[in-house]
Amino acid sequence: MVRPHVAEPRENIASLRLTANEREEMEFTSQALGFKSLSDYIRHLHKVAVAPEKKRVAKLNGKTYGPLIEVHKTDLGKIYQGDSLEYLHHKVKPGSVNLIMTSPPFGLVRKKSYGNEDAAEYCEWFRPFAEGFHRVLKDDGSLVIDIGGAWKSGSPTRSLYHFKLLVMLCEEYGFHLAQEHYWWNPAKLPSPAEWVNVRRVRVKDAINCVWWLSKTPFPKASNKRVLAPYSDSMKGLLKNGYTAKLRPSGHDISDKFSKDNGGSVPPNLLAIANTESNGVYQEYCRANGIDIHPARFPALLPEYFIRFLTDPGDLVVDPFGGSCVTGMVAEALGRKWACIELSSEYIRGGIGRFQGDVAAIGRGRPALYSINTPCSQPVDEAAVPLMANGGATR
Ligand SMILES: C[S@@+](CC[C@H](N)C(=O)[O-])C[C@H]1O[C@@H](n2cnc3c(N)ncnc32)[C@H](O)[C@@H]1O
Repeated sequence: MVRPHVAEPRENIASLRLTANEREEMEFTSQALGFKSLSDYIRHLHKVAVAPEKKRVAKLNGKTYGPLIEVHKTDLGKIYQGDSLEYLHHKVKPGSVNLIMTSPPFGLVRKKSYGNEDAAEYCEWFRPFAEGFHRVLKDDGSLVIDIGGAWKSGSPTRSLYHFKLLVMLCEEYGFHLAQEHYWWNPAKLPSPAEWVNVRRVRVKDAINCVWWLSKTPFPKASNKRVLAPYSDSMKGLLKNGYTAKLRPSGHDISDKFSKDNGGSVPPNLLAIANTESNGVYQEYCRANGIDIHPARFPALLPEYFIRFLTDPGDLVVDPFGGSCVTGMVAEALGRKWACIELSSEYIRGGIGRFQGDVAAIGRGRPALYSINTPCSQPVDEAAVPLMANGGATR
């Protein structure tokens, strides 16, 4: 950015006390925005601060969302720093987004007591996003929300907040529940330990809900884009043929069953271990002293929905961008994209995802997970009484 011409010489020096982190962040952002120096950047911030309100911040229903700063750009996408409400309500054209793929912060609920009030508060907090999502989505577009459940504080019972959110989105904002999915993380540790390992009155909570919503009942989609490998028994059937017959259930299994469709239709249970700890992103963060985002989803989650629900060239938006996994995957799959994130620290890490070759999504070979059948161990019930008080005491 060119240094603005001033009549008076700049002879005054002001010293500014910053932490090492603040300084690094400010220098990073000022360079990313093309300023020649920190001084130019600070002068610019001052100008923005004193500019007339209507130019500085956008308003919707009396609410302001602050400036959006474009901090990184590729051929296909952009990372913005700022509040995504600004993007959703003012930046992007209505009806222009094919897929919103996101994972909103659930910490809002986790930190609190997790009761009904918090669930209601979460829904209230979400309302302007819901409006914005509806505004920007194309009629055949999809909204995919990955959201983890929460335990009520001090109680072995669950918050309803993510179900309430789903009901609100459908009943008040007119979204359709195209299909709920569940992301099973086989690597998730048993938690909370008190209910699962100590009092033994609950089982491992190993899934996140993934609400796939749409503006109309017919969002564009094809499950042929996300096929899974056939099971060994299906491969055998395809090889050796199948005799058409009526199943005991009454289902007529015709000879169409033995047609090779290139793979099997996956279930709505997505088995994806969230174990990546040494990928390019982590290495970049460690090398540059950047905090690693603590709540990332694995690349395969956005990959599944992007392939399933969009075509190359379509626009994919992640309004809670975090470490920009969605952007990276969209870039690799040839989709246009935008990630919006409040935290400059997470954005600094996210930019690292675009330093190398983004074309290959690092996933390795397809993984096969098995879930062991419960009730498969012999138990002497007399020796293992149920917790008579439901685990109210240890
Ligand atoms: C669960 S994390 C998303 C993680 C991301 N999916 C990933 O894999 O890295 C939610 C993110 O939303 C960001 N966030 C919260 N409110 C926001 C807002 N109004 N605008 C933009 N980002 C926001 C938080 O800073 C946080 O990084």
